[in-house]
Amino acid sequence: MIEILSPAELPRARQAGALVADVLQTLKSRTVVGTNLQDIDRWAETMVLEAGGSSCYVDYAPSFGRGPFGHYICTSVNDAVLHGLPHDYPLADGDLLSLDLAVARDGVVADSAITFIVGDSEPAESIAMISATERALQAGIAAAGPGARIGDISHAIGSVLSEAGYPINTQFGGHGVGSTMHQDPHIPNTGRPGRGYALRPGLLLALEPWVMADTAELVTDADGWTLRSATGARAAHSEHTIAITGDGAEILTVPTQAHP
Ligand code: MF3
Ligand code: CO
Repeated sequence: MIEILSPAELPRARQAGALVADVLQTLKSRTVVGTNLQDIDRWAETMVLEAGGSSCYVDYAPSFGRGPFGHYICTSVNDAVLHGLPHDYPLADGDLLSLDLAVARDGVVADSAITFIVGDSEPAESIAMISATERALQAGIAAAGPGARIGDISHAIGSVLSEAGYPINTQFGGHGVGSTMHQDPHIPNTGRPGRGYALRPGLLLALEPWVMADTAELVTDADGWTLRSATGARAAHSEHTIAITGDGAEILTVPTQAHP
């Protein structure tokens, strides 16, 4: 199903986007060496509930996971890529951490992910990989202009990732959002320009380029949720929710507050 928001509903989508972005940036600023993934999950829970949001994850039980996710945020560390279950793990200096959060507020969902390095270390290969996913995300957003199709977004994302030297996995990608988190259209992280569903104003899309350093193969942890690279290489993930407007795309998951 594809939902199209009316112009009157767009302010609610902006509110949801701002909530998700502010929570992610607050979590990033609080995360230090020694922070436990379970602390991050509890902080996310408190902030989402205090802001009147509801989690898209707690009761979510898709075919690609084992039972309800049961937590507020995905925390994927180092070789974990997507859907990292927040477990009892204190972060170390130089760890790579992806946080992925989706929340509904006033009936509209926003979904966003950020990846960053914990502590003072600056592992060059990880930073380059994070930057590639961020540039791919911006290219995908820029490709979502008037007259564009899903294939134009996929192609723009995939071109940046491949030129940066990363293999692309198409098992998981971007998606429509609306009153629920995962809707049509599916947006693979590579594709052919001019193909697929034609964008129209009021469509909300979550674009989410992600890569593993040296492989396209995923393996699932014993926890039934956390996806890791098959080689043990690190991975990165960047995601925004955007609204298609008459003259391009508006990023909804932008922070409204200053975060240290
Ligand atoms: N928010 C993720 C995405 O970007 C999906 C997480 S599903 C969960 O599409 F169940 F793991 F939370
Ligand atoms: Co998503």
